[in-house]
Amino acid sequence: MKVYITRKIPDTGIEFLKSKGIETIVWPTRNPMSPEELNTAAASVDAMIIMSGDKIDAKFLQNNSHLKAISNYAVGFDNIDIAAATKFGIPIGNTPDVLSEATADIAFLLMLNVSRKAFYHHKRILNRDWDTFQPTLNLGISLRDKTLGVFGLGRIGLEMARRCKYAYNMNIIYHNRSRNEEIEKELDAKYVDFDTLLKESDVISLHAALTEETKGRFNATAFSKMKKNAIFVNTARGGMHDEKALLAALENGEIWGAGLDVTNPEPMQADHPLLNMPNVCILPHIGSATQEARSAMSLRAAENVFAGLEGKILPFIVNKEVYGC
Ligand code: DGY
Repeated sequence: MKVYITRKIPDTGIEFLKSKGIETIVWPTRNPMSPEELNTAAASVDAMIIMSGDKIDAKFLQNNSHLKAISNYAVGFDNIDIAAATKFGIPIGNTPDVLSEATADIAFLLMLNVSRKAFYHHKRILNRDWDTFQPTLNLGISLRDKTLGVFGLGRIGLEMARRCKYAYNMNIIYHNRSRNEEIEKELDAKYVDFDTLLKESDVISLHAALTEETKGRFNATAFSKMKKNAIFVNTARGGMHDEKALLAALENGEIWGAGLDVTNPEPMQADHPLLNMPNVCILPHIGSATQEARSAMSLRAAENVFAGLEGKILPFIVNKEVYGC
């Protein structure tokens, strides 16, 4: 049995597959694979571990319906046509939970950095602009007792909410497809509709999946409803915000600042105007980038494909309908 892995990943997963007698082939370069290269690679293997940047469409899935499993090396799976995978009988796995804390840390880090303009101050030093103490210049805003609005209160959103509650006693409101009463009790959180989330939050942090429903949801209208002091944080998917509208909202002072770990498109152009704004902090999609999370993701992805090769249900299955249940 052979598994193709579309980028070098931590050894944990590879060692696991080897210990089970599975051969692994790893795409040898840093560049993403083209659709043709993905197709060629898939033709001669039994399962694949892919990255969130690999686009897996219906045509690929139809051509490669022999695959016994595909595991995304990510929790999000908006890069895969899940309905087509189910139609062609291919189980799809992902790597949830093990990256929740790492990703929430990045959301928290961005929020804090934006509130104190940290990246901007760093750039000031590089630009030889560190002069005498200035009591009224470049001030940040405190987060204590402010309101955090979580858009998508899943595992990562919960970890972000916990950090904000315990660090700054922030009031938690959230908007989700469904209510979570357990979390409401734990964090004294309140479920609100989308408009209320926009209007009442001092910080809005995105943790939903990218779907037709969430795509472009944070547009000019949404930004215009937010508080002037609001901080917008996106560690989920760049497709959920309209980057031009975000830039305009920041330029017009409709919101205070933004922290992004995801952009649209990725990678962001190095000369993008957002990168030079004092109240903006941008990171290159590193939410899950700790040694611990990435190793655990590697193992989780390997466990997924191994289960598929054994004809068993993937432990972290995305399309359980593929099994007719
Ligand atoms: C995820 O796991 O979904 C991360 O955003 C990496 O793509």
